[in-house]
Amino acid sequence: MPGVPWEKLFEAAQAARALAYAPYSEFRVGAAVLSEGGGVFAGCNVENASYGLSVCAERNAIARMVAEGRRRLLAVAIVVDTERPTPPCGMCRQVMAELGAPALPVRSRTLAGREARWKLAKLLPHAFTKRSM
Ligand code: THU
Repeated sequence: MPGVPWEKLFEAAQAARALAYAPYSEFRVGAAVLSEGGGVFAGCNVENASYGLSVCAERNAIARMVAEGRRRLLAVAIVVDTERPTPPCGMCRQVMAELGAPALPVRSRTLAGREARWKLAKLLPHAFTKRSM
């Protein structure tokens, strides 16, 4: 497999972050995912006055990928504006495990350029998947 176009992913994630709808937390997140065939799909977090309905950037990016007919998640890039790069929340990790391999690379980068890198299996060991049933 050719290498992951990380800069393209981070660019798309940063552009999506600029569109985040986060009037309650004011924590804006952008994400971009790579699918089979080289597709790049981006998403931002979308909050709601009923706070629990808020959707993370990562899941919105994955939903866009699926809506375009792609189901194999090959890489995830996240952009935040915090001191340290933030990892994806537990709910998003579970959604990644549905469509990505345990070796799925996940990277998070701050606007200042600090970066963290993980494999999904490290973020979510012992994931529950369709193979668990
Ligand atoms: N959020 C994300 O978009 N991705 C994450 O991985 C963590 C949290 C969003 C949800 C909510 O809109 C805001 O960040 C604060 O939790």
